[in-house]
Amino acid sequence: MAGICVAPSLLTADFARLGEEVATMEAAGADRIHWDVMDGCFVPNLTFGPDVVASVRAHTPLPFDAHLMVVDPDPMLGRWVDAGCDVVTVHAEACSHLHRTLGAIGELGAKAGVALNPATPPGAVEHVLDLVDLVLVMTVNPGLGGQRYLAGMEAKIAEVRALVTRSGRDIEVAVDGGITAETVGRAWEAGARTFVSGSALYRHPDGPATAIGELRERCHRDELVVA
Ligand code: DX5
Ligand code: ZN
Repeated sequence: MAGICVAPSLLTADFARLGEEVATMEAAGADRIHWDVMDGCFVPNLTFGPDVVASVRAHTPLPFDAHLMVVDPDPMLGRWVDAGCDVVTVHAEACSHLHRTLGAIGELGAKAGVALNPATPPGAVEHVLDLVDLVLVMTVNPGLGGQRYLAGMEAKIAEVRALVTRSGRDIEVAVDGGITAETVGRAWEAGARTFVSGSALYRHPDGPATAIGELRERCHRDELVVA
C-alpha cells in the first residue's frame, strides 16, 4: 500500500466561502475533503448539515468524507450519501448498534468508516472489520480544531494497523487531530496512511499546497512493512 491520503478538514475553513475553500484544497493537492459534522451533543460544537455539504458538492470532484460526531447517526445516514459523501464515518461510541449502522452505510453505496475516541480500545471494531473501509483513530478529543496531538495514540494506531493486517482486508488506517508536519511522521511510522489535517493547512505561512507537500515529505514512501 504505497503513498498516503491527505484529507483536509474544513473545520478551520472560512464557512462563508466553503466552495472556494474546497477548490483551493483540490488545487493544493488534497486527496479527499473531510467534513467534521458535529451535533452539539456528542461533542460541544455544532457545524455542518447535509444541505451545506450538498451545496458544496459541485465545487470539486474530490471525494467527500463525512466524519459524523453525532449521537445516533442512523436516521440521517441516507441524507449524507444523497448530499454527495463517498465515505461516511461514524463513532463507535455514538452508535447503539454499530454493526447494523456500518452495514446500513454499505447498503447505501458509500464506504463505511468507524472512528475511535482516544479512550476507546481497538477491540471495539474487531468484530466489524468485515463491514468497514476505514478506521479513524482520533489523535485529539473530538470537537475542536487546533488541538495538541496525543502522541499516546501511536500505540493504538499500531494496534489498529495490526488488526487490519490480520483481517486481510484493504481498510484505511486514518488519523485525525493535531496532524502537522511535526507529528505526521510518527503517525505514519505507527501505521497510519490517511491523514486528516485542518489548522496546520490553513495556518501554514506558505499556504496549503506547501503544507500538504510537507505532510507527504514527512511520510516514508516505501511499502508498509508490518509484522
Ligand atoms: C476534531 C476534528 C479535528 C479536525 C482537524 O473533532 O475532527 O480533529 O478534523 O483538526 P486539526 O487538524 O486542526 O487538529
Ligand atoms: Zn474529523
